[in-house]
Amino acid sequence: MLAKGRVLNFLKIPPAAILENSNHSRRLSTEDVLERERKYAAHNYHPLPVALSKGEGVFLWDVEGKRYFDYLSGYSANNFGHCHPSIVKAIQQQSAILHHTSRAFFSDVLGEYARIVTRLFGYDKLLPMNTGVEADETACKLARKWGYRKKNIPKNQAVILFAQENFWGRSLAAVSASTDPTSYEDYGPFMPGFKIIPYDDLNALEEALKDPNVCAYMVEPIQGEAGIRVPKPGYLKGVRALCDKYNVLWIADEIQTGLGRTGRRLAVDYENARPDVLVLGKALGGGVYPVSACLADDDVMLVMEPGTHGSTFGGNPLGSKVAMEALRVLEEEKLAENAFEMGEIFRDQLTRDLDKNVVTQVRGKGLLNAIVINRSKSSEAALPKLLVPIFDVADAWDVCLKLKEHGVLAKHTHEDIIRFAPPLVINKGQLEESVDVIKKVVNSMGK
Ligand SMILES: Cc1ncc(COP(=O)(O)O)c(C=O)c1O
Repeated sequence: MLAKGRVLNFLKIPPAAILENSNHSRRLSTEDVLERERKYAAHNYHPLPVALSKGEGVFLWDVEGKRYFDYLSGYSANNFGHCHPSIVKAIQQQSAILHHTSRAFFSDVLGEYARIVTRLFGYDKLLPMNTGVEADETACKLARKWGYRKKNIPKNQAVILFAQENFWGRSLAAVSASTDPTSYEDYGPFMPGFKIIPYDDLNALEEALKDPNVCAYMVEPIQGEAGIRVPKPGYLKGVRALCDKYNVLWIADEIQTGLGRTGRRLAVDYENARPDVLVLGKALGGGVYPVSACLADDDVMLVMEPGTHGSTFGGNPLGSKVAMEALRVLEEEKLAENAFEMGEIFRDQLTRDLDKNVVTQVRGKGLLNAIVINRSKSSEAALPKLLVPIFDVADAWDVCLKLKEHGVLAKHTHEDIIRFAPPLVINKGQLEESVDVIKKVVNSMGK
């Protein structure tokens, strides 16, 4: 409970003084920025100690003017780089005309946005949301309703399947589906009707699909937060075939993998496999605005009648305009093609040149890649096993700190896995310069 005196103390400070922007009164150092954010913002993240103040293309700058390669891309939201001129222009222009109406009314932008997205991806309808977790939850709601209305699943008995190590956000439904204690511990009670199966295992999927109450399988074509886990070739086609066989909806969560990130417009394009429900987010908002969407054909989408689902901001003219521009940039600048080409070079070079004592695996597709750090190494491989001193080389956090010192910003997804996902606009020269830094830093950790 908040102490009464504490509230009154806050009230003594005039609001004008609180609202005064302290950034204007003096230049902030990295330490100032870290201290202020730690003091006033919740500690639900553990950021690298870098204080950013500017971005352009593949680069970020900190408050002291040091330049970094961005190898996170805002968790794959910044596929188009920082401050892409035409995306900035789109947001400036539309925000001066009409930014938000709610869907209580029609706007002259949403219909055009929905036309473009449905034509590009080949679905009848788009349901607009804002963040990724909302769009995934929308897909789950759609699937349950479809299950009751079209598959005749008994009331409140619908089951949705998820893969082990899935990640689709932080809502109570999303953490109910999570197999990671960091996500779900102490947030129960959890959502019923969710079942977990192993990833990349078609036999396990088929077993689970035999339950007639299953309405959907929601899965990432490449698991992102799990550490860039790429399934075996044929998995996605197999998922399609099994979902058809058992009359179950396949929901593809392409929030992280979609829009060019993996070297195709969608990761499912690698296998020409078409999900029943496609979920997009992150880069759909051009990295400047939260825009997400659920796409499906009419026999699924129209089970939701007016008033049964929605969002205050979903489909607003500003977000719709930004998303249209983001998609235009993706196509016009051939970013999926560039991601494919740069990704090949990236993995080739790292696989060839990284010290195998430090890194056990380089994996990924396009520009969604990861390295797995070997957390223990033997100094004397020739010694009998029990005599070999086992010691920590480094964990992924240490490597990320060192990469930061040398001008590359990347973040670990697990204690031993670092994701490398630069903006898709990266060119060959920039890629090679940053890959040299990564090689030098990672290899130095083994010495
Ligand atoms: C595959 C996937 N789905 C959903 C989400 C949730 O998106 P958001 O954080 O925008 O809610 C994420 C976020 O990392 C994701 O990687």
